[in-house]
Amino acid sequence: KRPAGAPDKELARKITKVGVIGAGLMATQFALLFVRRLQVPVVITDLDQERVDKGVQTIRSEIDALLAKKRISPDEANRLKALVHGTTDKADFADCDWVIEAVFEELTVKQDVFADVEKHIAPEAVLATNTSSLSVEQIGAKLEHPERLVGFHFFNPVAVMPLIEVVRTPQTSDEVLATAMATAKNLKKNAVITRDTPGFVVNRVLAKLLGEAMHAVELGTSFADVDAALAPLGLPMPPSELLDLVGLRVGAHVLDTHHRAFPDRFYDSEKLHKLAEYGTLFEKDKKGAIKGFDKGALKII
Ligand code: 3HC
Repeated sequence: KRPAGAPDKELARKITKVGVIGAGLMATQFALLFVRRLQVPVVITDLDQERVDKGVQTIRSEIDALLAKKRISPDEANRLKALVHGTTDKADFADCDWVIEAVFEELTVKQDVFADVEKHIAPEAVLATNTSSLSVEQIGAKLEHPERLVGFHFFNPVAVMPLIEVVRTPQTSDEVLATAMATAKNLKKNAVITRDTPGFVVNRVLAKLLGEAMHAVELGTSFADVDAALAPLGLPMPPSELLDLVGLRVGAHVLDTHHRAFPDRFYDSEKLHKLAEYGTLFEKDKKGAIKGFDKGALKII
């Protein structure tokens, strides 16, 4: 059944090469998904060669992990690795028909990145943003063709979370929206079309939950007790672990954006910003598994 507001799927354009801007946590996860599910070349870029190399290495290691779990064959692992390229030259994006960004969550940074990449790509190539809570329409403000921009919001961990929020702006063309819906389907994800409002749907609700959890902590209940108190709600993970999963900086940014948009309705936790600066909420073992709350983090709280 076609989701409400979805355009005719016949309008979808074919994707033959994907460009990924940003080589961090989210970008490498979805770069792998694109290469695995669409089986097309994926080119990934970042500010410098070191970040690009690290991103490509992360994707290669994840391909090895899929091989070790016998989810893919050795042949497929080699084929997927051969499809991933790193570059610092946007000219390598020239023949991409789908370019998606997951760079720093700062409006001007995203605007400039897209205005720059637009110079190198075909007029009908789609631009997608994985922004968590910025306005997609504003991200496209410096584009010559804002109708080619769509929000395409993944969730952490990308390989596991089944949803993509497809965000349409007043300018997004039906062809671009149809391409985004078809792409989500080809990535084997469920897509919902959301309006371009702060936090779309999921982060709007999470910002409320995490903001209130932080507020309870700031009013004196321990984080461990807030987590324990919320356990009966059946959340897939406690709020503290969810914050760690999305990243303290991203979490603080999401609360900040919501508070600025709706000051009376969303709490912006100063302590979460301090924790983000400190860097961690948990003490972890060498493999990254949580051992308990970090003592320095508890002092901040
Ligand atoms: N990174 C990558 N993969 C992970 C992972 C992680 N941090 N955590 C778990 N996985 C993978 C495992 O490897 C496993 O994969 P496999 O089947 O291929 O081996 C699979 O997930 C299941 O792992 P577990 O058996 O350990 O499953 P759990 O039952 O513990 O579930 C979870 C783990 C799926 C992460 C679950 O706890 C969950 O759904 N948590 C909530 C996550 C959530 O709400 N995400 C949205 C955050 S908001 C966001 O991202 C938006 C952004 O804009 C802020």
